[in-house]
Amino acid sequence: MLLETLARHRVVPVVVLDRAQDAAPLADALVAGGLPMAEVTFRTDAAPAAIRELAARDDLLVGAGTVLTRAQVDEAVAAGARFIVSPGLSRAVVERAQELGVPVLPGAVTATEIQAALELGLDAVKFFPAGTSGGPAAIRALAAPFGQLRFVPTGGVGPSDLAEYLAIPAVAAVGGSWMVPVSAIRSGDFATIERLVAQTVTTVGALA
Ligand code: 3PG
Repeated sequence: MLLETLARHRVVPVVVLDRAQDAAPLADALVAGGLPMAEVTFRTDAAPAAIRELAARDDLLVGAGTVLTRAQVDEAVAAGARFIVSPGLSRAVVERAQELGVPVLPGAVTATEIQAALELGLDAVKFFPAGTSGGPAAIRALAAPFGQLRFVPTGGVGPSDLAEYLAIPAVAAVGGSWMVPVSAIRSGDFATIERLVAQTVTTVGALA
């Protein structure tokens, strides 16, 4: 289900929220802009409450990002996260998410990490940090031996290289924060976010 949603929208907004009360207007902007999906990162204390707020909506798919521990998996899923994202490959995080039946997307950027992900039964990984881990060329090279695996490059991805990543058949979607800048969230400028989201949707639509 996660892979289908990723394949439909092709971009995962990676969100950092300082205040849970920003979650609702942010979700409105994502939905209005045409990208009804959010990875809310566990980098702030507001993350569980923000996820709870977003999980109550039926117009948007919410997941948790920067999940580093089993306890955070539990906290995220209890708050309503429908998928879990981790910057690296943690067996503990992956196995806890699997126990709870929630799709999990751990980071993997080397052949060794990818093999470990495959051994855990995964069919997709986050390629993080994409920009400094070899970018599109590295994904193309890694996709060759791992035919069925899907990649979600994230970290340093932006409007200028979005098309190059999405042109790779093994790339299900990209993740990024460029359409949800922390500065705009902090200043309550959700109109800018809606505009950046809509621009992203237009760019992706032109690639199809
Ligand atoms: C993440 O946690 O996935 C990244 O911080 C998002 O990367 P970006 O801010 O470079 O888009």
